[in-house]
Amino acid sequence: GKTYEHLLVSSPKPGVGLVQLNRPKALNALCTPLILELNAALRNYQADKSIGAIVLTGSERAFAAGADIKEMKDLTFSTAYGNDFIENWSELVTFLKKPLIVAVNGYALGGGCELAMMGDIIYAGPKAVFGQPEIKLGTIPGGGGSQRLTRAIGKSRAMEIILTGDNISAKQAGEWGLAAKVFDTPEATVDAALSTAEKIASYSQIAVKACKEVVNKSQELGIRDGVDFERRIFHGLFGSKDQTVGMTAFADKKKPEWMNE
Ligand code: CAA
Repeated sequence: GKTYEHLLVSSPKPGVGLVQLNRPKALNALCTPLILELNAALRNYQADKSIGAIVLTGSERAFAAGADIKEMKDLTFSTAYGNDFIENWSELVTFLKKPLIVAVNGYALGGGCELAMMGDIIYAGPKAVFGQPEIKLGTIPGGGGSQRLTRAIGKSRAMEIILTGDNISAKQAGEWGLAAKVFDTPEATVDAALSTAEKIASYSQIAVKACKEVVNKSQELGIRDGVDFERRIFHGLFGSKDQTVGMTAFADKKKPEWMNE
């Protein structure tokens, strides 16, 4: 496959793409070249018909310690605003229609926490540390943290975390629902993410895409419009071949052979 300076990319299980952030000397700080590579790698997986789900992880010590502070230090307002600084960070939430499972070990701080929250499912290792420490640098979250953390854990908790810069432990992340699950070892965390991705990749890719789309709509729409949207997509899937494949296989007590159509 393609090689990158700041990423390791592989496909360890059928239908599963794995992207590992690999900038160890800076604890995977998210410099612009890393983000550009990450977008390129995820776009490749989005276009690759053999891939059904993607796992994003870092190292045992750090998922990502945030935006690259050394790169940001001398930015001015006009350069940041004029060049849409970090606008490219959230590209993945629009172009990536395949599920992204984020396996977090070690630090997921600032932009690292924000990147994790752009994923669809977070699995946390025992020493995962989440937080938005921007207040300690004299600034605020800039990659969506104030919005996504608040939706994930509620206003009072998010306000406390963002205003104090205090960290969220793995245990707390699990209890608060920021992480879907917490695991005993870093390896178990990545393995579980890969297994979940493999399971997702084994289903109809049409239905998987629709699942992600409707759940994400819940973050944008009120309940009435959200349920209406879900119903439209649900009805629409009666036009897919895989609806017939899946329901016929159930009735015949057979394993469905998805057509992804
Ligand atoms: N940017 C650039 N470099 C970073 C970095 C970052 N966010 N985080 C760590 N590094 C670098 C360190 O400078 C250090 O490099 P050198 O060896 O060249 O000195 C190397 O990574 C190792 O880090 P430490 O020596 O600090 O490791 P530690 O174990 O003592 O501490 C840490 C780990 C608590 C995560 C600490 O590195 C830290 O506090 N990092 C910054 C965390 C942070 O503030 N993140 C938010 C950034 S702002 C942001 O993300 C804005 C946004 O919302 C978009």
